[in-house]
Amino acid sequence: MSHKTRIGLIGYGKTGKAVANVLSTDPRFELCWIARRTAASSPQTHPDTAIPIFGVDRQSFEILFARHPVDAVVDFSSQEAVHAYGEIVRKRKIILVSAISAYSKSDLAYVRNLGKHTRVMCSPNITLGINFLMTAANLLRKIAPFADVEILEQHFKEKPEISGTAIKIAEKLGLEDNQITSLRLGGIIGEHEVIFGFPHQTVRLVHSSIRREAFGTGAAFALSQLANCAIGFYTYEDLLLQTVNNDLPKPGFAGVGN
Ligand SMILES: NC(=O)c1ccc[n+]([C@@H]2O[C@H](COP(=O)([O-])OP(=O)(O)OC[C@H]3O[C@@H](n4cnc5c(N)ncnc54)[C@H](OP(=O)(O)O)[C@@H]3O)[C@@H](O)[C@H]2O)c1
Repeated sequence: MSHKTRIGLIGYGKTGKAVANVLSTDPRFELCWIARRTAASSPQTHPDTAIPIFGVDRQSFEILFARHPVDAVVDFSSQEAVHAYGEIVRKRKIILVSAISAYSKSDLAYVRNLGKHTRVMCSPNITLGINFLMTAANLLRKIAPFADVEILEQHFKEKPEISGTAIKIAEKLGLEDNQITSLRLGGIIGEHEVIFGFPHQTVRLVHSSIRREAFGTGAAFALSQLANCAIGFYTYEDLLLQTVNNDLPKPGFAGVGN
């Protein structure tokens, strides 16, 4: 009988709530608990489910993991939380999927080090779509280094800074920041487009964000892939490429005589 992966979700803010919606309805997983920083005066549960929501600090993390064991932790909280639960994850060999975008170098070194003892995936861009776009753009850049490349990113009017995702794509493709064009209009949640200009053709790779639930789908993909991985630290791209290598037919020679 296949066993569901038991999950603890850390962070129940704007994104954590959407991620909880996805993980609590995915038949592969059992979302056992949700942890946030502030404790409510009366017991809280996720809407329409009995999944408990706990307010935690460093000591109560110990109690939480002991009373409610899980196979995996998904972190959508803040950069400091991993220092409160990291040693528990290390000791109990619990899978860690961290989506924290703002880790410092030393935080990231700590998270990487956890990968010596358990399976860890950390990604500042956890949607399947953006990671696919980055992988595909990288591939095309390698095949056609002579093509002109520009990035167009569009977001809601109030977003002041250049999209971090667009900067990351530019870094991966070896582009300068001035090859990113930003448009700020109305309520667009987020759109990233990489345009490859060839002399006689144009290739456009476009990703549009519709709902924050996409982050939950991304975390679910990472959890399912990590289940087949050895202990180690992985990026989202590692997991995507692993799927491609495992699931697609191997290249062969279909030439004369085959
Ligand atoms: N990788 C990606 O693609 C991606 C996408 C979206 C967001 N993120 C990241 O996800 C994180 C959350 O984003 P958000 O927009 O949802 O933020 P948010 O609305 O401020 O929510 C943060 C949540 O984390 C909880 N929290 C913070 N520190 C904690 C700690 N030490 N221990 C336990 N819980 C803690 C907060 O508890 P309270 O509710 O009690 O305040 C809150 O529930 C950020 O780091 C963001 O960068 C990543």
